[in-house]
Amino acid sequence: MVQFPGLEGVVAAETAISLVDGQQGMLIYRGHWAKDLAVYNSFEEVAYLLWYGKFPSANEYEAFITKFKKYRVLGVEEKKVLESLPLQLDVMSALRTVISSMSHTFTAWPPTVDDAIRITAMAPTIIANLNRRNEGVEFVEPHPDLNHVANYLYMLKGEIPQKAHVAAMNAYAILTMEHGMNASTFSSRVVVSTQSDIVSAICAAIGAMKGPLHGGAPSEVMTMLNGIGSKENAEQWMREHLEKGNRLMGFGHRIYKTRDPRAEALKTVTGRLASEDPWLDLAVYVEELAIKILEEYKPGRRLYTNVEFFAAAVLRSVEMPSTLFTPTFTSSRLVGWTAHILEQSQNNRIYRPQSEYVGEMPI
Ligand code: CMC
Repeated sequence: MVQFPGLEGVVAAETAISLVDGQQGMLIYRGHWAKDLAVYNSFEEVAYLLWYGKFPSANEYEAFITKFKKYRVLGVEEKKVLESLPLQLDVMSALRTVISSMSHTFTAWPPTVDDAIRITAMAPTIIANLNRRNEGVEFVEPHPDLNHVANYLYMLKGEIPQKAHVAAMNAYAILTMEHGMNASTFSSRVVVSTQSDIVSAICAAIGAMKGPLHGGAPSEVMTMLNGIGSKENAEQWMREHLEKGNRLMGFGHRIYKTRDPRAEALKTVTGRLASEDPWLDLAVYVEELAIKILEEYKPGRRLYTNVEFFAAAVLRSVEMPSTLFTPTFTSSRLVGWTAHILEQSQNNRIYRPQSEYVGEMPI
């Protein structure tokens, strides 16, 4: 018998990057509450914290920001690859391909913080401009005076974003930056444990992130809420959905058996953004009702909203197209992946679990 299906409960590595406590609903990044960092710090400060294990001095921060600005700008070769991709290709696959095409320009082994900054800084430029290309509008270069998060919104629309949108996206990006040994982070650690390069590890993580049970959920939350449509329809819709054996997207988590602290923090952020929005009102209503209905259909499973449920609300409020929900999640999770890649490479042992053979034996 398989002892740990899905490796549930298996501790495969020591980490100093984050603590995810699913019983108490706690998320800590290097000794700091993620929910506080999301409100009081910038994306760049928290990225620095995750990579270096401390906050930067003023001089360190300045040098760090200079690198971010430089790496955000794509070179001629990267732009050529981006332009050459089929328009039908989804953004996650396109992002993976553009990053993959640059692997010869990164350190072979061991990966460096500079590699991590470069991949993280360039991702929003790639994603925003892939989207612009799909919309048939011109490439927008990063704005030298805007920070990481504001630049992403700027490149998407080609105009300076509203402060409230930047603050909401900053909170979203920090809360989704890191989350322990999830499927994509584990994938990246497995690849780098073979002493393969950082780009291969990131490409594997992007592949894992794409799936609807992981990073693909927020656009499915939008689809679900759009399908429900109104408070009157909510109960019947959810019951029919569950009776067909389907899952309610944005609910349940392998680790959290109480409310996901990221969902709580994002709910507050969305409340500040657009308290009058009927869609948000519906989301809050559906959350409360779904928790009760899930307890009825799946007693004792302790299914609550996960980060994706209110992530959908934040992304919708800043007018993010739903095709970019997962790529946007990816652009912030790059910080966590690269922090784990660095940590794995510094104390490495190749991952090699076992499987149990249940096939036939030769006669
Ligand atoms: N709706 C209905 N039932 C559910 C749900 C849900 N969203 N989630 C779990 N269950 C049920 C499941 O059917 C199973 O029931 P039973 O015991 O009768 O077979 C039980 O709860 C345990 O489910 P599981 O699949 O063994 O739990 P897991 O820990 O393997 O799955 C999960 C975790 C997130 C994949 C799952 O809860 C799910 O599919 N949720 C919906 C998709 C979603 O919102 N994904 C985003 C996850 S958060 C992002 C991240 O951090 O990666």
